[in-house]
Amino acid sequence: MYRSHSCGKLRASDINTEVTLAGWVQKTRDKGFMIWVDLRDRYGITQLIFDEERTAASVVEKAKTLGREFVIQVKGTVIERESKNKNMPTGDIEILVNEVTILNEALVPPFTIEDETDGGEDIRMKYRYLDIRRNPVKNSLIFRHQVAMKVRNYLSQEGFIEVETPYLIKSTPEGARDFVVPSRMNEGQFYALPQSPQTFKQLLMVGGMDKYFQIVKCFRDEDLRADRQPEFTQIDCEMAFVEQEDILTIFEGLTRHLLKEIKGVAIGDFPRMTYDEAMRTYGNDKPDIRFGMKFGELNEVARHKDFNVFNSAELVVGIAVPGGAAYTRKEIDKLIDWVKRPQVGALGMVYVKCNEDGTYKSSVDKFYDQKDLAQWAQITDAKPGDLICVLSGDIHKVRPQLSALRMELAERLGLRNPEEFAALWVVDFPLLEWDEETARYHAMHHPFTSPKPEDIPLLDTQPGDVRANAYDLVLNGNEIGGGSIRIHDKATQALMFDHLGFTPEEAKAQFGFLMDAFQYGAPPHGGIAFGFDRLVAILGGQETIRDFIAFPKNNSGRDVMIDAPANIDAGQLKELHIKLDL
Ligand code: AMO
Repeated sequence: MYRSHSCGKLRASDINTEVTLAGWVQKTRDKGFMIWVDLRDRYGITQLIFDEERTAASVVEKAKTLGREFVIQVKGTVIERESKNKNMPTGDIEILVNEVTILNEALVPPFTIEDETDGGEDIRMKYRYLDIRRNPVKNSLIFRHQVAMKVRNYLSQEGFIEVETPYLIKSTPEGARDFVVPSRMNEGQFYALPQSPQTFKQLLMVGGMDKYFQIVKCFRDEDLRADRQPEFTQIDCEMAFVEQEDILTIFEGLTRHLLKEIKGVAIGDFPRMTYDEAMRTYGNDKPDIRFGMKFGELNEVARHKDFNVFNSAELVVGIAVPGGAAYTRKEIDKLIDWVKRPQVGALGMVYVKCNEDGTYKSSVDKFYDQKDLAQWAQITDAKPGDLICVLSGDIHKVRPQLSALRMELAERLGLRNPEEFAALWVVDFPLLEWDEETARYHAMHHPFTSPKPEDIPLLDTQPGDVRANAYDLVLNGNEIGGGSIRIHDKATQALMFDHLGFTPEEAKAQFGFLMDAFQYGAPPHGGIAFGFDRLVAILGGQETIRDFIAFPKNNSGRDVMIDAPANIDAGQLKELHIKLDL
């Protein structure tokens, strides 16, 4: 038996018990006649004491050789501590050691295994197994497990069945590039790793599974950000014989359940917002509604006043920043520089200080009088003491720019409290999205999403205006889930592929299996997938998903610990029929 108790277990009630513990040496304090060692495992830290008077000399000698992170086993007696540590669950006791075994020595770790470590991101990623010993990382992984358990229990209770779907498949179009795997047995052919189990879960519905879920890895070769990893996990779900409302109800229920169980937060019905409204009022399809600063469109009141920048703009739009009238000229200039950074891309910013005395001072006083500015204040809901920030330009550029400014200011003003939760459904997404690069329409969600029946006639004339039965779940300004009611008949699916620029032959070659399945009694169905890493991170009060993934990739998509991706040897390449032309 390696251990009788964990390092987090023993209390004053265990005094005089003979115990065996095993773990890592967190730190040692050698006072000459007395040595203390903090022994750590997943469950906590227990203090060991080696005492010249009470411990055999050979054991004391061995204790002197212990280095940080050595793996040891000790036998001893639980005794009362002289100076108790109220901050530690095991702080009332210590172990008077009578036997110590070094199970494995350790090199000096490249960073301290403490809650606040001296190790930078890169070094911690390279030695992730050491990082995992630290409480913040360990606790994030335990937290992730707890969320997964709650999700599984909830969905199982609702009658969902977890079914595994394959990883070696054919391309699934979720909008990113595929990771591909060459086939040794089929020369020149490749599997794709699933961007999601989308087509399989639909086939499970045709197979009559009715309510499916899976906590599943997905793979997308896309640019990485704090909330994106090339391999990530979804809570993937699909239901048959449902309408949008049924799906929203179940998954609103899941989200509410998690918030209650895990955070102790009760939230009411989730508001619904159309995509159009979200874009108009927040410039964003994943608005953070924990705070205001809603967009006020100023086209009507700001144009035709000789200010050419606004006159020629497609959209003039502003937000009221609470208390912003107190900003100094220098602070405002900094804000202007911030919106002009290439990452945001605004050409400039007009501002209006709403003074406490009800007057206005703007950067465009030459063109606008007090009456004009009062209208701006009314539209942006600016109060005395606020600062109105106004951007202008093409709608598709200005909205994200002002949205970025809104989020940045909210962050600075402390309005994005990670312990406060606000969820909403964004509904009625456009079916299609124009892609400048390829100069054609793409499915905004994916090509299996059904158009709203009443909008189908617009497909030929105004494809950009067709709305889809598609919805996203947004939590604290993050898209944590997205789904849709699917097309379930061959004719509509063929029509969709046609509008996406597939020839019938291409559609058949890529998705013939699904269209065929639709001819064998496909039930009406729909579903959703949650980004599990994102959900866990947000519930954990953060937005960086890497911290909640045991072995994440860095921003270049590399695993710096195992050093992947890596070259493969010539023999392996040959077997895979791959000739590299480097
Ligand atoms: P979608 O593409 O919207 O939908 O993905 C669902 C959710 O997955 C999360 N997500 C990611 N998380 C981390 N890293 C990534 N690279 C990443 N990409 C997406 C997001 C997102 O909301 N098959 C459909 C679902 C459906 O229609 O049922 C799908 O995959 O939180």
